[in-house]
Amino acid sequence: MSTVVVVGSQWGDEGKGKITDYLAQKANVVVRSQGGNNAGHTITFGGEKFALRSIPSGIFNPNIKNVMANGMVINPKQMLEELAGLEARGITKYQLFVSNRAHIVLPYHQDLDGAYEQFKGDKKIGTTKRGIGPTYADKVNRIGIRIADLVDPKLFKKALEDTLPIKNKELEMLGLKTYTVDEIFNEYSEYGKKIKPFVCDTSLLLEEELEKNSKILFEGAQGVMLCIDHGTYPYVTSSSPTGASVPLNCGIAPSYINNVLGICKAYTTRVGEGPFPTELDGNLANYIRERGHEYGTVTKRPRRVGWLDCVALNYARRVSGINYLSLMLFDVLSGLDKVKICYAYELDGKKINTIPATLDELERVKPLYVEMDGWKEDITHVTSFSELPVNAQKYLRKVEELTKSEIVIFSVGPDRLQTIELKEFFK
Ligand code: IMP
Repeated sequence: MSTVVVVGSQWGDEGKGKITDYLAQKANVVVRSQGGNNAGHTITFGGEKFALRSIPSGIFNPNIKNVMANGMVINPKQMLEELAGLEARGITKYQLFVSNRAHIVLPYHQDLDGAYEQFKGDKKIGTTKRGIGPTYADKVNRIGIRIADLVDPKLFKKALEDTLPIKNKELEMLGLKTYTVDEIFNEYSEYGKKIKPFVCDTSLLLEEELEKNSKILFEGAQGVMLCIDHGTYPYVTSSSPTGASVPLNCGIAPSYINNVLGICKAYTTRVGEGPFPTELDGNLANYIRERGHEYGTVTKRPRRVGWLDCVALNYARRVSGINYLSLMLFDVLSGLDKVKICYAYELDGKKINTIPATLDELERVKPLYVEMDGWKEDITHVTSFSELPVNAQKYLRKVEELTKSEIVIFSVGPDRLQTIELKEFFK
C-alpha cells in the first residue's frame, strides 16, 4: 500500500489534519490537492497546537516532501505568512514543492467572495470569504492567473494587463474598489520572488516518487458533502474533495488511487449554511460543541452539531470510493445516557438511504435513528479497542455495520498519542 488518500467524509473539520499528521510519520510525500486557505487543519503534538491553512501536514517532518498540487488555489501572501509563522515556531527545515499550474488568489477574489455573499442575503453560502470560489470561477472562465505566471515578472504583468480590465468591470458593477496593474504587480511580484524556489512541475515529481514506490499521502481538505459535484449544492465549496478528484488535481494516473481513508467524527458538524438532517439544538448540542471544541479553525464560528448521519457517510463512501474509516473525537460522546445514529431518512412517507439531489427534498427528510445506551467513562486514555467501555465498542461496531466500512483507526483526543490503530494501515 504505497498511496493513501485521506478524505473528509462529512462536511469538513473531521480531524483530517490529525490523521494526516499521524500517517505522515510513515510517509515520504504528503500532497494537498485541492482547495486553499479555506481549510484549517489542526495538529497537536508535544503539547503544541498548530493550525495549518494551505501548507500540507507533513511540513513538521524534514524528511517528508510536501506538495501543493495543481488543483489547489494558492493565496501567495497568506502562504508566505503561514510559512513565516511556522518558521517563527522553529519549523525551519522542511521540503515544500508548489505546482506551477496551481491558480493564485488575488485581492479582488476575496472582495468578490464577500460581495457575492452579501448580495445573496439570506441565501448566502456562509463561505470562509477567502476568495476560493471566485478564484476557481476565474480558472474555469479561463481568466485565472497561475503560479507559473506569478514567478515570472514579464508573464505576471501581462496576465494582469489581460485580466484586470475584465475583473475591474465586474468590481465596478458591484460597487467595489478597482485595482491598477501596478498596485497588484508591485506587491505580488515580491511574493512571487519568495515562492519561486519552491515552484516546480509537481506532476513530474509525483511520478518519480510513484515509480520509486515512495509512500504518498494525499491529504484532502473540506469534506465529501461539500463537494462541488456531489455535495449539498449550492451549499458547498468550489472544488471536489473526493478521492476521485485526486488524479486530476495532481496530474497522476487514477490507477494509483486504491486506498481511500474516510475521516468522520463520532457525530456530525457543519459550518456555514445548508441542510443538516441530524442537527441538534439546545443542551445536547451545547454539550457536544463544548466538549468537541466545535468552533471554526479559520473563522472561529460555532459549528452546527448533530448525531452521526450514516446516510451521508454511506453516500460519501460511494461517491468517493472510501474503503476504510477513521472515527474521530470518540471521547466527546462520553457522559451521555443515550446516543443515536441515523441509519436512513424518511421522505414523504418513504424510507430512503441516499442523499436526494435537491435542497428542497433534503430539507424535508426526517432522520430515522437507532438509539443505543451511552457510556459514562472518560475514554481519553484508552489505548486499545478492548479497553473501551462495552457500549462504546457497540457504537463503533454499529457504525461499521451501517457504513459497510471497516474502522481502522479511532481517536480519543487531540494528541498524536490518542490515536488507536485497529489495523496497521499504510504499511
Ligand atoms: P468556501 O470554501 O470558502 O467557498 O466556503 C463554502 C462552504 O464550504 C462554506 O459552508 C464553508 O464553511 C465550507 N468550508 C470550506 N472549507 C471548509 C473546511 O475546511 N472545513 C469545513 N467547512 C469548510
